[in-house]
Amino acid sequence: MKQKIDTIFPSLEQIPDEYKLSSPIEQTEYLINGEIRYWKGEMQAVYSPIFIKYGTEYKNYIGSYPLMGKEQSLGALDSAIAAYNNGKGKWSSMSIEERIECIKEFVFQMKTERETVVKLLMWEIGKSLGDSQKEFDRTVEYIMDTIDALKELDRASSRFVISQHVISQIRRTPLGVVLCMGPYNYPLNETFATLIPALIMGNTIIFKPPKLGVLLHKPLLEAFKKSFPSGVVNTVYGVGEKVITPLMESGKINVLAFIGSSKVADILKKLHPKPHRLKCILGLEAKNPAIILPDAEIESVAKECLMGATSFNGQRCTALKIIFVHKNIVEAFIEQLNKELSELIIGVPWEKDVSLTPLPEPNKSEYLSELIQDAIKYGAQITNKNSGGGYYHKSFFYPAVLFPVNEKMRIYREEQFGPIIPIVSYEDIEEPLNYIIQSNYGQQASIFGKDTNTIGKLIDTLVNQVCRVNINSQCQRGPDILPFTGRKDSAEGTLSVSDALKVFTIRTLVAAKESDLNKSIISNIVKEQKSTFLSTDYIF
Ligand code: G3H
Repeated sequence: MKQKIDTIFPSLEQIPDEYKLSSPIEQTEYLINGEIRYWKGEMQAVYSPIFIKYGTEYKNYIGSYPLMGKEQSLGALDSAIAAYNNGKGKWSSMSIEERIECIKEFVFQMKTERETVVKLLMWEIGKSLGDSQKEFDRTVEYIMDTIDALKELDRASSRFVISQHVISQIRRTPLGVVLCMGPYNYPLNETFATLIPALIMGNTIIFKPPKLGVLLHKPLLEAFKKSFPSGVVNTVYGVGEKVITPLMESGKINVLAFIGSSKVADILKKLHPKPHRLKCILGLEAKNPAIILPDAEIESVAKECLMGATSFNGQRCTALKIIFVHKNIVEAFIEQLNKELSELIIGVPWEKDVSLTPLPEPNKSEYLSELIQDAIKYGAQITNKNSGGGYYHKSFFYPAVLFPVNEKMRIYREEQFGPIIPIVSYEDIEEPLNYIIQSNYGQQASIFGKDTNTIGKLIDTLVNQVCRVNINSQCQRGPDILPFTGRKDSAEGTLSVSDALKVFTIRTLVAAKESDLNKSIISNIVKEQKSTFLSTDYIF
């Protein structure tokens, strides 16, 4: 295995032509006020997690993007504010039907860039070809489902409510300027999971791509420009302190949609001078546990836990990040887990059936090694050391299965966001339950076993600690129609296809006492279509 890892990176000739980058992508373009502008200032170099071998040397430079400053960032803000124009702008006053048409046009244009975006996902974040394609297709599907959910919402809002002699119509209206920032592990999907619903509901957008996974947005700039009125979508690039701080300090951001760490989210929230005016939709870190009961079917459970812990190399907020196994089956479980693990294919993202790929964050292998050393100091072992567990070469890190893990170790509480699988042996079910209760995180948990008495009781305890309890299944966000959220430091607000439409809006109503005059005014406005809001029309 070690030899395989040492030779994981290809030479230029070994890369299939369709996946080669013909030259580095020097992106100077950014989108502000409906114009593609060209940056002439300082640039940020982009390095791929995939190294190319030239004899004894390795190279991984794949391009660069603008390191914008306060001036450009505030320019993007002015543009978004002007486009919103206190809710009187073209975009926010458009009918829902018209906005849907613009989004459909965007999807049409976006689909023509699938191949380029998928290729850049592989090069920028090391995601496998299959998972990169899935990320793109899931995003397109999410947008189409959002359109359907909006039609549904619109149908429900196209009626009048009469109560206590008051006639009213209630609809959802936009909030203003939304700042969207997605994470590096789903740079396309999780940026668009907030950007698209915010947009379709009539808000205007400033978006900053994550620090890794920037260049893949470049092919979509033209699609944004062509599909939406000027200033409705604006992009900023650069270091957070320089471009995001001024935006938050301006007090003019109405919604912060951020997927990343709670530490950064807290800093950003505090920068806003009037926090009560800021609505936050946050997807943050997690340390989702699996609890394996003594009657679990070891073979299938080991497979599911392995997937849960290693898909995209464990770089998912929903990944299983600690596994509690009943002491009676812990040895058999570890043996099976290591057997399954040894069958996973390692390689660069386009290799056939590859599961484990290089990691994009700088110095990530060193960080993971530190966690392992710390665990060893307090009594853990790398159970798969002989098959390469914990061994790394540059950005490729082979998963380490650590056992026995205890509370003295950093890995017990710290979110590794990478391929380390810590295993804790327990005797009493209260041990994993106490772990969850004391955790700073509260996103999801997985229970594996058969006994319905135990599982039933565990469900009732866990539903008040986390926001999704999975039975004999790994933790995950999808299907995207399900609510995705968390307690404590794991999230603020709920996302799903339909929830997202709600979080980027506020319920607003028009109401009138049920007098003859008011009835005739309302009837006339509706019949003569004198208002977009006050209307009984709906979209099929
Ligand atoms: O990184 C966090 C993602 O929201 C996880 O999503 O469960 O679909 O991989 P996923």
